[in-house]
Amino acid sequence: MTDNRDSIIQILDIDRTLAANVPFSPLSDGEIRVWFIPTDHPGLLKQTGVLSEDEQKKAAGYKNPSVKMCYEIGHTALRLLLARCQNTAPESLSFVYGPKGKPALSDSNGVHFNISHSGDWIALAVSQTPVGVDIEYARDTRKTDSIVRRFFHPQEAEHYRTLSPEEQRRFFYERWTAREAALKALGIGLTVEINEFLVERCPDRPLLRIAGGPPGSERLLLTGFDCPKGYVGCCAWFEGAAQKKM
Ligand SMILES: CC(C)(COP(=O)(O)OP(=O)(O)OC[C@H]1O[C@@H](n2cnc3c(N)ncnc32)[C@H](O)[C@@H]1OP(=O)(O)O)[C@@H](O)C(=O)NCCC(=O)NCCS
Repeated sequence: MTDNRDSIIQILDIDRTLAANVPFSPLSDGEIRVWFIPTDHPGLLKQTGVLSEDEQKKAAGYKNPSVKMCYEIGHTALRLLLARCQNTAPESLSFVYGPKGKPALSDSNGVHFNISHSGDWIALAVSQTPVGVDIEYARDTRKTDSIVRRFFHPQEAEHYRTLSPEEQRRFFYERWTAREAALKALGIGLTVEINEFLVERCPDRPLLRIAGGPPGSERLLLTGFDCPKGYVGCCAWFEGAAQKKM
């Protein structure tokens, strides 16, 4: 895997990828593809009959109509994209869930994915090896001071205090999305004390890594990527995973 975020993360257009007349190039080693989908994507809303009975039940359980629509659009897009990756019908895919709820394809066949939603956007990341993605709508800094005090490593909290307000905002969202992406790559979610580990820059490459984190996190690499205006995103993957074919 090349240690350069631009050679790892490919941001692709959902409409172009799903267009029937555009050939789909197979995923390559070490590549992570990311698609942004608006939560009210009109074309995906019309794609009924793709979701499984369980997914339809889950969607129906959301009382808030916009949360329901976000779930339906995200999972419809996910099925359509994964079907293109596996060259199969979207409705034929089935999913399994990890102990803390991380979804994966029952028959992954070297296709892994992760979803994140925030505000008006859904991000889907797909890779040949396990991946975690997080996006956040980067609001102002009002509440970030207390979150940093509570949930960031003391070293990060100390650094945060030396920054200007704009730098604090950027630092906060970079490190927050990195924490979530790491925990999502591991599949454990927010079930650990996230202030006990440090998100830090790799000394030798323009990526982030985790120090003192839960088992497996020492092998994670992370990077931010370009997002729609006002949003911040991060992807996490396992170093050397491309070679090991996890
Ligand atoms: C995973 C988690 C960090 C998501 O955080 P979030 O910022 O609220 O949400 P995001 O939009 O970034 O991600 C949500 C997506 O992550 C995925 N996801 C769910 N659990 C996951 C996990 N353990 N690991 C990785 N991804 C997970 C799902 O696809 C979900 O989207 P969906 O419900 O539309 O399918 C959070 O839900 C969490 O900590 N979950 C585990 C909590 C837990 O232990 N629950 C008890 C189960 S025993």
